[in-house]
Amino acid sequence: MKINLQDIAYGRVRAPDLDLAEKFLLDFGMLRAQRTDTALYMRGYGTGHHLHVTELGSPGVASLAFSVESREDLERATHIPGASAIEDINEPGGGQRVRLTEFNGICIEMVSDVERVNPTAFQMRVMNTIAAPNNRMNDTTVMPRNPAHVHRIGHAVIGTPDIEDTTRWFTEHLGMLISDTVYEGQKDNVLGNFLRIDKGATPVDHHTVLIARAPTAGLHHLSFEVSDIDDVMIGHEFLNNAGYTHLWGVSRHVQGGQIADYWVDPFGVMFEHWTDSDRIDAHHPHRYLTDEESEGPWGQIVTPKFKYHRLTPQVPWTPAGLKGRA
Ligand SMILES: [Fe+2]
Repeated sequence: MKINLQDIAYGRVRAPDLDLAEKFLLDFGMLRAQRTDTALYMRGYGTGHHLHVTELGSPGVASLAFSVESREDLERATHIPGASAIEDINEPGGGQRVRLTEFNGICIEMVSDVERVNPTAFQMRVMNTIAAPNNRMNDTTVMPRNPAHVHRIGHAVIGTPDIEDTTRWFTEHLGMLISDTVYEGQKDNVLGNFLRIDKGATPVDHHTVLIARAPTAGLHHLSFEVSDIDDVMIGHEFLNNAGYTHLWGVSRHVQGGQIADYWVDPFGVMFEHWTDSDRIDAHHPHRYLTDEESEGPWGQIVTPKFKYHRLTPQVPWTPAGLKGRA
């Protein structure tokens, strides 16, 4: 029976210095939700309790979390091979979870009833356009040179030597749909599959997971939505002035249509700011595109340092207090 996926919820990584982790995430445009001696929970300006967890430890990706609509969906998830039982999340935000293991061994948390929070208000300039020239009438606000404003997590990209089996894991067990396949030469020489959530006639982001070809398995990047193109550029200037490493962008993509900009945190994990994704429903056809057709209409052409960025390796993860249990 189909599991009703709601969205990607958060990424959980490990880093050896929580102060440094927090400094980057604040500069990237997140807000602190909570911090303990061993873990940092960061949120955005939207309603998610947290979008990113950093646990103290050697750098690596511990899990990717997806929210489901109800406890019944968690019950269904327990029937997926290798699933844990339903367990309480003994962390800030609470809720319940089933732990799964995807094809490459990365822990997938299916979560339900995690606390929602009130959005944090902030002011963005509305854009005047030819079609709507007075959107910003009598508003002469000047945006300060601050970090961008992260609203929500958008997608995760998993690199793997085995695209086919990894894609099958997400389509069979989580019911995800393939939006676009990128290939080189023959159609079966797949470089990447962009997967979206199946919500029937309800529009969703073009992709919530991307499975990309890589020599080893690991996390390629985590992606976070900001307000608009102004916000992407505000974030770009701020991170650039703060001396962080930039990998690619600002550019508009073909697969998903987003405006995107890519950065690296102090531990080598890649982060993306994006805005303006294509929104499609479950009836949208599966599209095949070559690598050459994947060059967007404007912005920097994809860089080798983005393409060949070292994947963040997976680290085995068992929730605190459950050590030794399945
Ligand atoms: Fe991305």
